[in-house]
Amino acid sequence: MCGIVGHVGAKDSDRSLQVVLDGLSRLEYRGYDSAGVAVGATGGLNVVKSVGKLANLKAELEKLGELPGRCAIGHTRWATHGIPSVENAHPHTSLDGALALVHNGIIENATALRQELTRDGFEFVSDTDTEVVVHLLARTLVEELRRPMPEDEGVTGVAGDPSLGGGAEDAAGVAQDLDRNLDHDQAATSDAKNNSLLTPGIPADSLPTAAALTRAMRRIMSELHGTFTLLAVHEDAPGVVVAARRSSPLVIGLGEGENFLGSDALAFAQYTRRAIEVGQDELAVVTPTHVTVLDIHGNRTEPKTLEVDFSADRATKDGWPTFMEKEINEQPRAIADTLANRLDAEGFLTLDELRIPAEVLRTVDKMVIIACGTAAYAGQVARYAIEHWCRIPVEVELAHEFRYRDPVVTEKTLVVAISQSGETMDTIMAIRHAREQGAKVVAVVNTPGSTISRESDAVLLTHAGPEIAVASTKAFTAQITATYILGLYLAQVRGNKFIDEIQDYLDKLAEIPAKVEDVISRGEGVRQAARMLADTASVIFLGRHVGFPVAMEGALKLKELAYIHAEGFAAGELKHGPIALIEDGQPVIIVVPTPRRPELHRKVVSNIQEVRARGARTLVIAEDGDEAVNECADVVFRVPPAPTLYAPLLAVVPLQIFACELATAKGLDVDQPRNLAKSVTVE
Ligand code: F6R
Repeated sequence: MCGIVGHVGAKDSDRSLQVVLDGLSRLEYRGYDSAGVAVGATGGLNVVKSVGKLANLKAELEKLGELPGRCAIGHTRWATHGIPSVENAHPHTSLDGALALVHNGIIENATALRQELTRDGFEFVSDTDTEVVVHLLARTLVEELRRPMPEDEGVTGVAGDPSLGGGAEDAAGVAQDLDRNLDHDQAATSDAKNNSLLTPGIPADSLPTAAALTRAMRRIMSELHGTFTLLAVHEDAPGVVVAARRSSPLVIGLGEGENFLGSDALAFAQYTRRAIEVGQDELAVVTPTHVTVLDIHGNRTEPKTLEVDFSADRATKDGWPTFMEKEINEQPRAIADTLANRLDAEGFLTLDELRIPAEVLRTVDKMVIIACGTAAYAGQVARYAIEHWCRIPVEVELAHEFRYRDPVVTEKTLVVAISQSGETMDTIMAIRHAREQGAKVVAVVNTPGSTISRESDAVLLTHAGPEIAVASTKAFTAQITATYILGLYLAQVRGNKFIDEIQDYLDKLAEIPAKVEDVISRGEGVRQAARMLADTASVIFLGRHVGFPVAMEGALKLKELAYIHAEGFAAGELKHGPIALIEDGQPVIIVVPTPRRPELHRKVVSNIQEVRARGARTLVIAEDGDEAVNECADVVFRVPPAPTLYAPLLAVVPLQIFACELATAKGLDVDQPRNLAKSVTVE
């Protein structure tokens, strides 16, 4: 939650503000309660903030005219501490206005620190935990700047701590730390190196403050409890951004004579594909030509480089009115890309990313799928397939509940963590708990390099491309696809299925993208029904077997997009209570299984009749040729026939279109529904 962007450019480039605003537009899905930027130029910092969506900030900036700068940081907020207001918006500044800071995460000891800083004379203007950090950093920076300055180096230092500098030798240590550039063939290095060992990358005018700020940032990291990505700029170091991270994401993009920072690589994907991940408890000093990464002890680290594989244009609307519509329509590709290149020359399913040895997978006696929201519904669908194919018991658990019930997890448990963002804190905490118990964790994620992919034993990527609309659509169908591949792989490795059987399952799965395309092409009927129901106060969704999690996903989409009360029930549960909700005109959407599973099909048709007999308006999703539903359905949305286990990949699509259209008919913002954020990086 919250999007963070930073940029450092050449002295005369003056494009930092634009780069940061572009990045914030791409990260706005992470939060949109308020937004702000700090732009640093020789001569001072300019901080501009505004409540509401990014468009408001842009309008504010337009009123101010040009804001040239060599570096900038920006933030788009999802409120945790304090209401959305200008005061609570980031960047937060020190009392003298010289230091500005943006933050993603939660500082758990903010109250104690606030009391201490207040006793020290610091006055607070916001309710946020972030303002605590900026004052703490400012106080520590003053201490660092006051330390005796080594004569010939112009860099302050602290005796006895080589990473912080101290005396001439330690000052050299500081500068060398700051010189731990990544050799990303940027032009400026040789000139800078020739000028002085002590100043490569750091513009001379920024050096003393940059060095002190780095030391101060490192010191405060030990005082902060909780999660954070922090980016700081100072008016006396206009060519530098100092960053730190613990359990919140930070990726640095490597440009030519400029560098970028972002909560994820989308922030700068339009400028560069080369990036590095900043690890847990690390800090980074970023200049136009150098990126120096240090651990919390001040030792240089070798950051992991990554190739950003999202093309920036996949993160634009590309002619669609909304990201939501674009992403619903991208599902055939998301499924096909997730399926692609999974077979070796002999026709065996191979999962290159799955770094868990086959002999370990053969010992697995239980699987636990952990996830939240839509990803958890994908897990519930996967359970039916994996249990059927592999004969392994599969539990599906909401990640935030998992560790609190003291789950039975052993070395023989395979935990599958599903997450689009790869940054969901509830899921991260559940993964840590599972690994502490000795379980192996496979992450099914859509974001390469994300925290969940790094903290798991193995990764299976969904190739849905960036999902920008806050409500998940293409990630859901890609997650089901990926977990099916995992299930078939396990069945192969454990010998539950013969290779020709697996091939048959895969062949039928390969037919699904074209069928999804077909469902999408029939969308107008769904849209018409949605528009007619724009005034409805509640919708009930019913499903059985794999249709049950689909019903819950349909209800979730409607809640979050259209702010309508919606509930998904197992159709068989109806008579145990929920049927009392049915009254005249109550819309009920029912996911009907294929008539080729008559025992299931018959029961769901009876359930439709039961609600209809009590006055419900029934909207039914049924296979082509299923005539039995005609007599009990007010409206039928048809989908092409598919194997039972694959039917959710088709049946969910009309439900997505329904929610999107109904919300649009109500005049709501389907890409950024109220109160939500795309990555839920707080517990
Ligand atoms: C709903 C939705 C959320 C996410 C959930 C998990 O449309 O998007 O329910 O599915 O917050 O997020 P990830 O998959 O990023 O872990």
